[in-house]
Amino acid sequence: MKVQEARYVMSNSDYRKCPEPIMPEYAFIGRSNVGKSSLINMLTGKKALAKTSQQPGKTQLINHFIINNLWYLVDLPGYGYAKVSKVEREKWEKMIDDYLFNRENLICTFVLIDVRHAALTADLEFMARLGEAGIPFHIIFTKADKLKPGQVANQVEAYKMKLTEIWEEVPPTFVTSAEKNQGADPILGTIDTYNQSFQKTK
Ligand code: GTP
Ligand code: MG
Repeated sequence: MKVQEARYVMSNSDYRKCPEPIMPEYAFIGRSNVGKSSLINMLTGKKALAKTSQQPGKTQLINHFIINNLWYLVDLPGYGYAKVSKVEREKWEKMIDDYLFNRENLICTFVLIDVRHAALTADLEFMARLGEAGIPFHIIFTKADKLKPGQVANQVEAYKMKLTEIWEEVPPTFVTSAEKNQGADPILGTIDTYNQSFQKTK
């Protein structure tokens, strides 16, 4: 699938005010600074579509982008950002949870993991909650340019091993680098497949 058009639609703190849920939607989620906004820019080929920052905590709302006038990409705030107050953090977490657990056109989520890190409890707990809520997810490893290819492969294998300790089945995984513009096609292909089955069930 080619991204012909990518447009910012709106930002919200309340899922009930998000665009009418009539098109398939895909959300990017993960710890602060993992590269969610950068990945959205890479996938759409628009460098400044989603706002990125070296400082964690940049994305603070539910941001909708419409792609090819057919489907939504959603950029979410990161979880586990330690520098904001507990009250603020809980507010964000509730906003994300309410969105994830109630958004009726959300087809699946992509959980982003920095490929340099070993499995972190916050990420594993988050995936467990998605699983319990029956929200399908895929894993996208980010920042692959920061390691040598062999190291990337080892990290991914180790992560999958960890997941098999918890899950019977490991979700599909992708490896990306927004810096080097790598890994977009398989993700867009997966979204395309979902879009087609969404059309068929309409
Ligand atoms: P929050 O909105 O704060 O939760 O962060 P985010 O997950 O949206 O991360 P963002 O895309 O803003 O990127 C955070 C930092 O990581 C920025 O400095 C990016 O330039 C950098 N970054 C993102 N992706 C990559 C990548 O693939 N490779 C490298 N080297 N840096 C990356
Ligand atoms: Mg962001």
